[in-house]
Amino acid sequence: MNRRKFIKVVTFGAMAIYLSGCGLTAIENDKNKKESGVSAHGNVSGGKSMKIVVINSSPHSESQSTSRYLAQKFVDGAKSAGHEVFIFDAANEKTNPCRGCDQCGMDGACIFDDAIENKLMPEMLKADLLVLVTPLYYFGMSAQLKTVVDRFYARTTKISGKKSMIIATAWNSADWTMEALQNHYETLVRYMSWQDVGQIWATGCGTRSMVESSEFGDTAFKIGAAL
Ligand SMILES: Cc1cc2nc3c(=O)[nH]c(=O)nc-3n(C[C@H](O)[C@H](O)[C@H](O)COP(=O)(O)O)c2cc1C
Repeated sequence: MNRRKFIKVVTFGAMAIYLSGCGLTAIENDKNKKESGVSAHGNVSGGKSMKIVVINSSPHSESQSTSRYLAQKFVDGAKSAGHEVFIFDAANEKTNPCRGCDQCGMDGACIFDDAIENKLMPEMLKADLLVLVTPLYYFGMSAQLKTVVDRFYARTTKISGKKSMIIATAWNSADWTMEALQNHYETLVRYMSWQDVGQIWATGCGTRSMVESSEFGDTAFKIGAAL
């Protein structure tokens, strides 16, 4: 083995040991992602404290919601690693869907003087990582989250290039349950030039007891803690 090859092998080995030590294996290929419902890219902050914006969108309460449960686990993990977290509650804030009026010119203030414009957008502009959280609704994101996402239009350029992540929960557990939403999310990542740092596709998690007895809670914490 020549020197270059040796360094490569040692580096990969060290990375694998580090990630499994965190209880988090970097899963990058589609087959594994489909089987486990999770992908994550480990340490993406370079040890610096990141500003994270979490957008919850379930109309279920904090104590009932499956997606809020996983989001909170992720937040607990991220805070334990010293990151700063802002949570936006899309289902309970005053929001308006984009009217396509183009007054913003895709790079300015929205005509709506609502919580998206006044509470969320200032935090998003400062954020390093955006986390979309949704229950699966008819194989897509909730209308509450889609309302927020469409309003990204007003700041398309300014919020491009950020890191992103998605957490979604669903009742069904067939391997195609999340396919359409995953395609949508990955297309969004591509268009916005985001860097995807994690995906949690929590199938078979239709109720609070189902999600609490699954492994997704632990995984969400570990992904947050390993950022
Ligand atoms: C309007 C609506 C549509 C839904 N559509 C789907 C679906 O397409 N596939 C699925 O597996 N579950 C579907 N579900 C179930 C939810 O995704 C599931 O119960 C989820 O855990 C709810 O998350 P939450 O408690 O955070 O809102 C739907 C539920 C509702 C209310």
